[in-house]
Amino acid sequence: MFRIGPYTIDSQVVLAPMAGVTDRPFRTLCKRMGAGLVVSEMVTSDSRLWNSRKSSLRLDHSGETEPRSVQIAGGDPEMMADAARMNAERGAQIIDINMGCPAKKVCNKAAGSALLRDEQLVAEILDAVVSAVDIPVTLKIRTGWSPEQRNGERIADLAEQAGIAALAVHGRTRADRYQGYAEYDTIARIVNRVSIPVIANGDIDSPVKARQVLDHTGAAAVMIGRAAQGRPWLLRQIDAYLRHGEQLAEPETAEVLSILTGHLQELYDFYGEFMGVRIARKHVGWYLQQHPEAAGFRKHFNQLETASDQVSAVNVLLGDSVAA
Ligand SMILES: Cc1cc2nc3c(=O)[nH]c(=O)nc-3n(C[C@H](O)[C@H](O)[C@H](O)COP(=O)(O)O)c2cc1C
Repeated sequence: MFRIGPYTIDSQVVLAPMAGVTDRPFRTLCKRMGAGLVVSEMVTSDSRLWNSRKSSLRLDHSGETEPRSVQIAGGDPEMMADAARMNAERGAQIIDINMGCPAKKVCNKAAGSALLRDEQLVAEILDAVVSAVDIPVTLKIRTGWSPEQRNGERIADLAEQAGIAALAVHGRTRADRYQGYAEYDTIARIVNRVSIPVIANGDIDSPVKARQVLDHTGAAAVMIGRAAQGRPWLLRQIDAYLRHGEQLAEPETAEVLSILTGHLQELYDFYGEFMGVRIARKHVGWYLQQHPEAAGFRKHFNQLETASDQVSAVNVLLGDSVAA
């Protein structure tokens, strides 16, 4: 459906990188649910920190389906180049550069979308990373630094000149943070300008919205972030609609229960029980947001300390509705 270097991505639905959310268990699930490409949570370009538990879990891609895209964040061209090289050695097949999210400073230098203000530095980072590795490098940006300095089009030109293989654009500026609504006109202009695949991102939360954004922008694909939290089947609903115009029904409770308990098991296996139980709390909160008993259940669930208690609680809540 679209290409990133040697990889054909067989769906126009991409899962957005989300720190603290798109860990290996969630990425694997979303891939199974219809995402053509999933992108890891960002890892700092400061490899001295890679021995920390957080970074080493973020760097673990064992058993993941191809292509494995690893996002790096940082503001120093040489460090970013080293980080790209080291990730490629560890099995990354695509390096994604984060200039799209308000990442914390790395080594006292601006990182993430804060870089967009300094176009010279952007160009240096892109050149350094692209020439450091022989795998495709992709870039994620916002539409610019601020509404007054919406320089996303110039950044897109720099990306194309540097040999970036695909560009994801979130339809907000850095200054917008998450306020207001994403706009897609700048994304459409970027698509017009460059010949690399552009992936449109921001506030896409339904199959119909995905179709509208693709039609409006001419982008190669859509990227879904927050709307997939607790709703991974949205990816297959969007995929089916974009492919065939088919509106898939919401999953039956029995299927939600099976997806959710499978997801929980993956979290316990990946993080170990202590950490897995804690990480499960936020995912379960998202899955059950619309459930009539969500508030009371959440309070009870968040006090549970073992994997088996969590799985039983979810089975009791949703299993009752399956039996009813
Ligand atoms: C919890 C959270 C974590 C995020 N972490 C990252 C990240 O690590 N790297 C990145 O490029 N963007 C990150 N983002 C931004 C998303 O990738 C995406 O651009 C943004 O959420 C807009 O898309 P959406 O409206 O579909 O959520 C994050 C967003 C959220 C909500």
